[in-house]
Amino acid sequence: MPKTDWYKDLVFYQIWPRSFCDGDGDGIGDLTGVLGKLDYIRSLGVNALWFSPLYPSPQDDYGYDIADYCAINPEYGTLAQFQEVLEKAHALGMKVIMDLVLNHTSNQHAWFLESLHLDSPKADWYIWRRGTDKKPPNNWTSTFPGPGWEKRERYNADGSVSSDAWYYLHLFAVEQPDLNHDCPALREALKDVQRFWLDMGVDGFREDVITYISKKEGLPNGFPLMPAGRGMEHFSQGPNLRKYLAEYRTVVDEYDAMTVGEAPGMTPQNALRYIDQNAPVLDLMFHFQHMTADCIGLAWVKTRFSLRKLKKVFNAWQQALRGRAWNTLYLENHDQPRVLSRFGCTDTEELRVASGKALAAAYLLQQGTPFIYQGQEIGMTNLPPLALEEYPDVVTHNTYDLFRSLGFSHKRTMAHAAYAARDNARSPVQWSSAPNAGFTTAEKPWFMVNPNYKTINVANALADPNGLPQWYKQVLALRSVRTLFRDGTYRDLCPRSQTLYMYTRELPGEQSCLVVISFSKKVTQIQLPKAIAARGVQLVLDSTNNAVDATAPPTHERNLTLKPYQVQVYFYQ
Ligand code: GLC
Repeated sequence: MPKTDWYKDLVFYQIWPRSFCDGDGDGIGDLTGVLGKLDYIRSLGVNALWFSPLYPSPQDDYGYDIADYCAINPEYGTLAQFQEVLEKAHALGMKVIMDLVLNHTSNQHAWFLESLHLDSPKADWYIWRRGTDKKPPNNWTSTFPGPGWEKRERYNADGSVSSDAWYYLHLFAVEQPDLNHDCPALREALKDVQRFWLDMGVDGFREDVITYISKKEGLPNGFPLMPAGRGMEHFSQGPNLRKYLAEYRTVVDEYDAMTVGEAPGMTPQNALRYIDQNAPVLDLMFHFQHMTADCIGLAWVKTRFSLRKLKKVFNAWQQALRGRAWNTLYLENHDQPRVLSRFGCTDTEELRVASGKALAAAYLLQQGTPFIYQGQEIGMTNLPPLALEEYPDVVTHNTYDLFRSLGFSHKRTMAHAAYAARDNARSPVQWSSAPNAGFTTAEKPWFMVNPNYKTINVANALADPNGLPQWYKQVLALRSVRTLFRDGTYRDLCPRSQTLYMYTRELPGEQSCLVVISFSKKVTQIQLPKAIAARGVQLVLDSTNNAVDATAPPTHERNLTLKPYQVQVYFYQ
């Protein structure tokens, strides 16, 4: 039976629970906090939620190190509270997907502890190999810079320590051992995990680094010069990836649920192997190509933001997937520094809001399913530069070590960290100008609140009729009432411009749409394309004026003066 494609009509809001909202006053975000904010989220025009991991976890990677797949982290609440959130979200018309980390677990997971015993049925549930005392089994390194193997004692049936030099593979933190998906019993166990949440009523999964689950047989050495994630050519999109994904999908299909897979290094052509609608093993895929519009590979290797580069990626994905697969649209998540501090402009308060609107319009009206990350809708920005020890994320520390080992000075490395640390996206959501931004009533939140919270917060933003959340609401409302935005073609009219993004959406039998976005800090004069102006254009949204008269007659005027980062959305026949 062909699956329904309801995921195409969703707009997601991502919750990173630790920093979303603290309901019980212990300084850590939780489900009580979430429950109190569901109406707010819904009011933005969002109709789906993605929860970053809520599972019990030692928090070595803030929940992406799962210690128990079928429970809720007590810091966040209980299963009963999760059910309450789920029911309320459903009652409000929102779907809910869980983050599912299938590539690895925490080293505190019972499965891992059992796998230490060589006679255990779970002995091969992780990727164990023998090395020598000084030498790991191959040259792979972690994608969280640092070694990829950890030596660990294992035990014989009689309880004695094995005399072999055992190592386990960890493509992420040392506390995150990789699971061995080549083991059929493990795959069955993971299917049961999926059933557990689907039976409870969740609507699908965001599958963490899912393209890494199949490693090449024999684990051959990787390209030696690769500084981090060495061996990637053997563990990214490995030989059995499609097969395992197809197997996991059979479960999801039983429930008519959806999946979105995280896919580092993915190109549009390769993506079609997994999300082509004729033979999908995932519904959607998060790629990272557009997140390199200001860097080489990773925000740590920064360049100047290039609008042209951003559009080139947008265009390539819109074209390649058209009619064959469905796009996933996003600019922020818990792994990316705040987009306003990267692709936007934070020189003044006015420019911050204006560029936040420009960025929203740049992606929300494309074809695909959009995702909004907590705090993005009020234009949260990066943290001020911190001292190394003030950054909680393991990746910040490991990348610091890597940069230092490559010869970068402390000062230079810290400047890179200030721009690129994932911590920038993980400070508490700024709800109001109350102490700790209204995130918690505790004296001290688990991680610092951005000092700009007195200006940038939800209460202030909502009080401004021309504020950012209002813009998100307007754009999403426009998007939701027209099949044009779901099904129409996409065309970039000036792909080479570094300051102007102008794209159309067209669908036979419907009015077409022209989105005009300035990415300039200056006032600019532009001309609308002759052929479009000739047909008469009608302004329906303007980022500088939330009360556009959308019933005014169309005009044929081609010359347009745009304020810094101004957005205008037109319909035409
Ligand atoms: C994904 C997650 C990231 C996590 C990593 C390891 O990239 O988004 O937060 O650290 O996988 O699980």
